[in-house]
Amino acid sequence: MSRTVVVTGATGYVGGHTAMKLKDAGFTVIGVDRQITIPAAMEFLDEFCMTDFVDIVSTCASVRKANSIIHCAGTSLVGPSIKNPGEYYDNNAAKTNRMLTSLNQAGWSGSIIFSSSAAIYGNDAVCPIPETAAWKSFPINPYGWSKLIAERFIYDNCRAHKFKGISLRYFNAAGCDVDGRMGCIRDGTHLITRVIKGVLSGEEIIINGNDYNTRDGTCVRDYVHVSDIAEAHIEAVLLAEKMEDGEYRTYNIGTGKSFSNLDVVKQITDLAGHKLFWRYGARREGDPDSLYSDPRKFMQDTTWNPQLSSLGDIAQTTWNWMKKTYYNN
Ligand code: UFG
Repeated sequence: MSRTVVVTGATGYVGGHTAMKLKDAGFTVIGVDRQITIPAAMEFLDEFCMTDFVDIVSTCASVRKANSIIHCAGTSLVGPSIKNPGEYYDNNAAKTNRMLTSLNQAGWSGSIIFSSSAAIYGNDAVCPIPETAAWKSFPINPYGWSKLIAERFIYDNCRAHKFKGISLRYFNAAGCDVDGRMGCIRDGTHLITRVIKGVLSGEEIIINGNDYNTRDGTCVRDYVHVSDIAEAHIEAVLLAEKMEDGEYRTYNIGTGKSFSNLDVVKQITDLAGHKLFWRYGARREGDPDSLYSDPRKFMQDTTWNPQLSSLGDIAQTTWNWMKKTYYNN
């Protein structure tokens, strides 16, 4: 059976890789985005609506044909969310609420697969973090709160309007398509992108803090390859078909492995065989010490099994994409 799926934020990093994997798997993919962030993503879209997702039924008529909406659109950086919380609460929470209302008013029914985040867990969540930690530990930055609030909006709208909902709480998305068809933006602020850019350009990078309560004093994270995250969305679309109307679930999408910021620097400099200029700077506000997942629930409920999420594969695929796309030398 050919399925039609909508991806919001379809030309972004996670949305674009997800569109690519959906296309590979034979889905018809309708992309919604208010801009073209990574042009390579356009190749995987059967149809593209350049519009904000907030009222997608009236601005993108094809949404009616789809029975799954993969909602990747949003803003996703911890630091900027502290400086500009209003943007995060509006983009991630308020607009999601309005999208849900408009879907219901249009008589749409189906499943919503939501890009949530490990940022919904607070600093006191005990690692490896199970999904149930969200009942006890609260976010420490506006980004995390905006995602947690959006999760609640989806939960309530599923119950009220009989949508099906799955929130995928990604840990640290990283890497690029292994065949170089899709990748990341040039000036991303995430650690792995920054370190690779530092090696390729010779620019110095700053490691934010070395006095965290971790094994080497730098923050610890759980890196999961964006193509594995993309596969998780396909699993979620299929899983939702087996769920009851009105049902809502949450899942961690991570590997359960943990790497410090220094581990990342070492892995990438070893891989590249090049020098990286780096030094310690101040802590970045809003950074939890350690965030790594207990990912077993999603693996038990689906056939998801991340294949590309070793730090080596993540670093190599990012390196390949950035060198080819932005440092063509
Ligand atoms: N870092 C540096 N220097 C840099 C960039 C990052 O030291 O130049 C540090 C950060 O301070 C943090 C770690 O590297 O300690 C990871 O930071 P990222 O910016 O790469 O990622 P975050 O952990 O802040 O956040 C990411 C996503 C969120 C998601 C979260 C889940 O941006 O959407 O992972 O853990 F919620």
